Amino acid sequence: MRAPARALLVVFATTCLSISIATDTIDHAASITGNQTLISAGGIFRLGFYNPPGSSDARAYLGIWYAGIPVQTVVWVANRRSPVVSSPGVLKLSPDGRLVIVDGRNTTVWSSAAPTRNITTKVTAQLLDDGNFVLSSDGSGSSQSVAWQSFDYPTDTMLPGMKLGVDLKKGIARNITSCRSPTDPSPGAYTFKLVMGGLPEFFLFRGPERIYASGPWNGVVLTGVQNLNAEGYTFMVVSNADETYYAYYVSDPSALSRLILDGATGQLQSYVWGNGAWSSYWYHPSDPCDSYYKCGAFGFGVCEVGQPPKCSCLPGFKPRSPEQWEQRGWSGGCTRSANLSCGSGDGFWPVNRMKLPEATEATVRPDMTLAECRQLCLGNCSCRAYAAANISGGISHGCVIWGVDLLDMRQYPVVVQDVYIRLARSEIDALNAAG
Ligand SMILES: *[C@@H]1O[C@H](CO)[C@@H](O)[C@H](O)[C@H]1NC(C)=O
Ligand SMILES: *[C@@H]1O[C@H](CO)[C@@H](O)[C@H](O)[C@H]1NC(C)=O
Ligand SMILES: *[C@@H]1O[C@H](CO)[C@@H](O)[C@H](O)[C@H]1NC(C)=O
Ligand SMILES: *[C@@H]1O[C@H](CO)[C@@H](O)[C@H](O)[C@H]1NC(C)=O
Ligand SMILES: *[C@@H]1O[C@H](CO)[C@@H](O)[C@H](O)[C@H]1NC(C)=O
Ligand SMILES: *[C@@H]1O[C@H](CO)[C@@H](O)[C@H](O)[C@H]1NC(C)=O
Ligand SMILES: *[C@@H]1O[C@H](CO)[C@@H](O)[C@H](O)[C@H]1NC(C)=O
Repeated sequence: MRAPARALLVVFATTCLSISIATDTIDHAASITGNQTLISAGGIFRLGFYNPPGSSDARAYLGIWYAGIPVQTVVWVANRRSPVVSSPGVLKLSPDGRLVIVDGRNTTVWSSAAPTRNITTKVTAQLLDDGNFVLSSDGSGSSQSVAWQSFDYPTDTMLPGMKLGVDLKKGIARNITSCRSPTDPSPGAYTFKLVMGGLPEFFLFRGPERIYASGPWNGVVLTGVQNLNAEGYTFMVVSNADETYYAYYVSDPSALSRLILDGATGQLQSYVWGNGAWSSYWYHPSDPCDSYYKCGAFGFGVCEVGQPPKCSCLPGFKPRSPEQWEQRGWSGGCTRSANLSCGSGDGFWPVNRMKLPEATEATVRPDMTLAECRQLCLGNCSCRAYAAANISGGISHGCVIWGVDLLDMRQYPVVVQDVYIRLARSEIDALNAAG
């Protein structure tokens, strides 16, 4: 990290709309007021008060946007719930180490969460070239000195290097939440976030309702997202005792890339800047088979090019209500063709071109082998399926068992991972006989 420049509060005379302070940093004695902005060292991002386009009333928000592109694209908003209505807004650092926005009447409209480290009189807040606004407790800018950062409090946008997920040490859970409209950055209907449970999995919510899931992370892929590794773009899911998160990176540092949760469509959309415009290169949910729990318990979605989307039942299962199923009423799901014996008579049938069943309620045993996993499942009548918890490097590690109904699956044309479905012996024999 760069050593921060001192806040000089030298103001450029400019004919532009905003007046840049010649720095990327404020300290305890400095502030930014009204049209002043900070600009990151490499000129990538700008921070200041802005008025959303088309909002005629004087609502000002403290935001971060790209400095070098003509379309103002805001990637972070501090006070999305509480705009400054009595201008000018002022951002300053309070003695207790919080960033504070006061309005023209000196009323505090927003303040950041309490700093996670004791701050000194050398405290600074610096806008970095990755778009992160970082409070450094001693002004050193070192990673040990970070006492608060905007990346921990995302708005509706993920930038490369941001983490979406849970940090147990810091006690924070980061989500992205859509904006109400292009003219109103206050929280809209949609949120995308990690749900902790058996295997890491990310869910899109509309209000309290789950509408899309990434599929469980199996150490290699989010099993419900195809082609997440695009050219020049890498993603990762990290899960350890301290934190679980999704993050992505771009290999070309000059490429501008962002992932937003769009408030109009409720879609996660990935954008890159090029030829004077943002272009979208993927979005999710992307087809009807992405709809959460579309096919009910033990059913799975089939979306094939040129075919109408439909649901099917897992091998050894049949529609719970054949009449409704015939009418494309899939939500009733599927039921076993033959009851389990719950003894050693049961067996397993592998399926492998599937988004893994939702695994937030599944049980994970990281140290078990697949053979031990099978025994654990077989010995417990409520176990419906098992699989390796992690297939990193093409090797099965650990065990996940589903003691709950299998939900939210869909079929893919390619192999994802083996999932072993528990069936009665008679069904296994019938499936084997059918070839
Ligand atoms: C500040 O911005 C407002 C509108 O955003 C503009 O009317 C005003 O002239 C600007 N002031 C300066 C000093 O640039
Ligand atoms: C604004 O309020 C703070 C305390 O809330 C006070 O210390 C400060 O003097 C006030 N500033 C102005 C310009 O009134
Ligand atoms: C802050 O300082 C106090 C004593 O001055 C100390 O007890 C506390 O552990 C410090 N907190 C952090 C987060 O370093
Ligand atoms: C998203 O995170 C914010 C804090 O950044 C929190 O206030 C909000 O409740 C979270 N929303 C959901 C739906 O979890
Ligand atoms: C999956 O296994 C790999 C290789 O052993 C390991 O590095 C990684 O941390 C594991 N992932 C999870 C989520 O346990
Ligand atoms: C399975 O068991 C239930 C009762 O537990 C029974 O009502 C049902 O008829 C059985 N189904 C078959 C196919 O034997
Ligand atoms: C059987 O599995 C269920 C669900 O995973 C679990 O709650 C229960 O404790 C298990 N029973 C035994 C005896 O292991």
